[in-house]
Order: sequence, then C-alpha cells, then structure tokens
Amino acid sequence: MKKNEISRRHFLSTAAVATAGVAVSGFTPTFAQNTTDKPALLGGTSVRANKKWLKWPQWDKKFNPKMNEVMESLTWSRAKNVNQFEKSWAELHGMKHCLTTVNGTNALSAAWMQSDIGPGDEVICSPYTFSASIFGILYKGAMPVFADIDPTTFQIDPAQIRKKITPRTKGILPVHICGYPSDMPAIMKIAREHKLFVVEDACQAHLAEIGGQKVGTFGDAGCLRCQASKTLPVGEGGAILTNNTEYYDRLYSYHNFGYASGSVSGQISAITALILANKIRMAEYQAVIGLCQMERLQELHKLRNENGAYLNEKLKAYPGVSPVQLHKGATAASYYIYGMVYNQDKMDGLPRKRFIEAMNAEGIPVGTGYPNDPLYTQPMLREVFNSEIYKKCYTSKELDFEQYKQRNHCPSLIKTYDSALWIWNGGLMIGSKADMDDVINAVDKIHNNIAKLKQ
Ligand SMILES: Cc1ncc(COP(=O)(O)O)c(C=O)c1O
Repeated sequence: MKKNEISRRHFLSTAAVATAGVAVSGFTPTFAQNTTDKPALLGGTSVRANKKWLKWPQWDKKFNPKMNEVMESLTWSRAKNVNQFEKSWAELHGMKHCLTTVNGTNALSAAWMQSDIGPGDEVICSPYTFSASIFGILYKGAMPVFADIDPTTFQIDPAQIRKKITPRTKGILPVHICGYPSDMPAIMKIAREHKLFVVEDACQAHLAEIGGQKVGTFGDAGCLRCQASKTLPVGEGGAILTNNTEYYDRLYSYHNFGYASGSVSGQISAITALILANKIRMAEYQAVIGLCQMERLQELHKLRNENGAYLNEKLKAYPGVSPVQLHKGATAASYYIYGMVYNQDKMDGLPRKRFIEAMNAEGIPVGTGYPNDPLYTQPMLREVFNSEIYKKCYTSKELDFEQYKQRNHCPSLIKTYDSALWIWNGGLMIGSKADMDDVINAVDKIHNNIAKLKQ
C-alpha cells in the first residue's frame, strides 16, 4: 500500500505510540480472569480468546419486507420515506426542521453554503477533526481559524475561541468529536455576544446531550451523518437540523437543484433554478434503512452510556489511562468512540505504541485516533490559498502558508494526537458487562506486566 493510499480507518486502527505502567492501586479485580497472566503479546492467552465482539452495523431480517416494499415500489428517489425520516429526526430533537442529504459532508457544506459567510470572513473551527468538517467554509471563500481543544474533553475550548475572535469573525464550527458533546452553552454565549453563525458538526455525536438538550440543536444548524460505522448507520446519509424556516427553505432548494421551496419562490417553469444549488437528496432506500435503525437507536444509546459510565468508573484505578471527560453540564455522550488519554509517565514509561500492541493482542480494538496531521497544515489549504478567488480576497501575508500554520498551531491538539486512545468499535460499546470487564482485564493485565512489556 502506498503511503497516500492508506485509508483513514487504517490510520485510526493502527497502533501508535505507547505507554508505561504503574502499579494499580485501589483496584479490586472482580473478574474471573487471572490478570497476572502472561500478556498475549508475549505469548500468553488473549483476554478475548474465542470471543467475538458484536457486529456493527446490525440489520434485522424483520426489516427486509420494508426494504423490499421500497424496492418494488420503484419509487427510489426522495418521497414518503425521506419525509418520514426527516419528521422523526426533527421530532426526536424537538426541532422545527430537518433536511436530509446524501451524507454528512454535504450536510455541512450545505449548511455553510446557505449561511451569510463569505470571502474575507473568518470561521473559528475545532481542529480535532478532518477535512469534511471545513469544506463548506472554503467553498464560501471564508478563512478557517483554528482554536485549540481541551485535551481532557477532546472538544474545542471556549476560552481559546474567545482568543481568536476578530472583527472579521462571522462563524463558529464546533465538532462534537468522538461522540462527546462540545460545551455548547459556553460557545453559544460567545456566538450571541459577537453575532456569529454556528454550525454544529454533530456527525459523530447522535443523541449526545447537554442539560438534556441534544447536540445539533444549539446552533443555527446541526449536521449529522449516517455512515455505516455511526450509531445511526445507513451506509451513507446526512441531515441538517434548524429552527430557522427561511434558512430551511434555502437549504431545501439548495439540495434540489435550486428549485422553488417555501420562501424561495418565483419560478417560471418546473425547472427554474432560483439559487445557486446542488443536488444532494437522500434516496428512499437510504431513508428506509434509517427508519429501521431508529427503532433501536434510543435503547442502544442508553446501553452505550451505561457501558461508557462503567468503563469510566473502572478506569479510575489506572492513572495512566484516563477516560475522556464529559464537560460540566453534559448529560449523555453518544460513545460512537470510547476515548481515553494515555499518560506514559504514569505508566512507568511504557510507550503508547507498546500499550496499544498489547491491548490489540488481548483482543481489545484500541487505536491512536486521528494521526498527527492537523487540518491547518494539510495541502488542500495550500491549494485553496493559491486559488484566484482567495488571492483576490486576502493579502499575501494572510495567505502565506507557513505563517498560517504558525498562527493556527494548537499545542493541545498535538499533545492529543500523541496521547489519545480510541476504541472505535460499534459492537464493543453495545456489548455486555462481561465484555466491558474484558477491556478492564486487558488494561489490568498490561499494568501488571509493564516491566516485561518494556523489555
Ligand atoms: C466529524 C465528522 N464530520 C463530518 C463527517 C463527514 O460525514 P460523511 O462521511 O457522512 O460525509 C465525518 C465522517 O467521518 C465526521 O466524522
């Protein structure tokens, strides 16, 4: 595999840096496993020997008739199932409008395309994400400005957002990364003070909540996605939530060739394009998969939160492996990913890479998360800055890529790239308590064998 062919998933699942272990204090193993055993990496028996994680996504055969009905109806383009999906999703979130799209990338792009953000404007973005989050900002000719994250929550830090505000700031892009909620009350306070447009990238965070309010409902728009690994898996799919009817009308028109929709009116013929648009409509078969998946969404969400809370509690005994914290006020995460922060010093010098290898050998699918490749250094931006439109709208100093990288450098992000641990396995997070105990057993076994693993 050539370097540039390595997929994101491959990166995310590949072991990275490692840790070292300290003796575990205050932990009373209640598990059947003898965790002083030889680590699987050194030839011992794996904690998960002969056990498989549940599969994700899941499909129940009882839904086949619904799927067949759509296929046999021969109405495959947007119709009643898409309408129903939008209605259900809007109701679940207590929002006036939901517009579905082909995927999350296009939901985000549409949300920015129909905003008033334009060339010369700045949008403050969370850097702990990847390109899909910011394409729409660049399509509008605006400038992404990155504010550092809080390394304990992985989320954009509102105090850092404040530091990046200038007279040109027009928007904020919080990304509820790994399924944990960003601090929306603090972010919306800043947005209100400075009259900023907020698009929430909630693509990883279905049903995560702050004070009982779901993410995606705080900002002007909240975008979700339904790719196969997600907690509402469709394969491909996306949605935008908003309470602004005029904005929704423009979004609807945009997703449908710019045709008339509500307040976007004045057509001469059925194919009069009224606004510059796209065609990013969800299909009926996507919607029907989504509707079927919605049946267990809340039940599984509850289970993920129970398992997440269980792991959080058990991991307290291991100072070198700290669960990602939910900020004050957060009432639920989506646990799309179970995140942890590795502290090599508190692990007696065992490198993160070695810890991950040892966990993987025990059958626990832990990886490093996003590779150390910050968005603000990626060649895509250099190319955008070299475009005629950017050259017309920004000074050469603003477009100097080296200076841009320095201005946007986020030290806590870099620290997180080097210390994050992600369990990114949809089946694991809906497993049994015995499955969760296996995760802890593996951590415990590694702790008990740090000296051997370091050799
Ligand atoms: C945070 C975030 N934003 C946006 C997207 C894009 O969503 P999609 O793959 O549905 O286009 C993803 C997908 O991985 C994501 O994780």
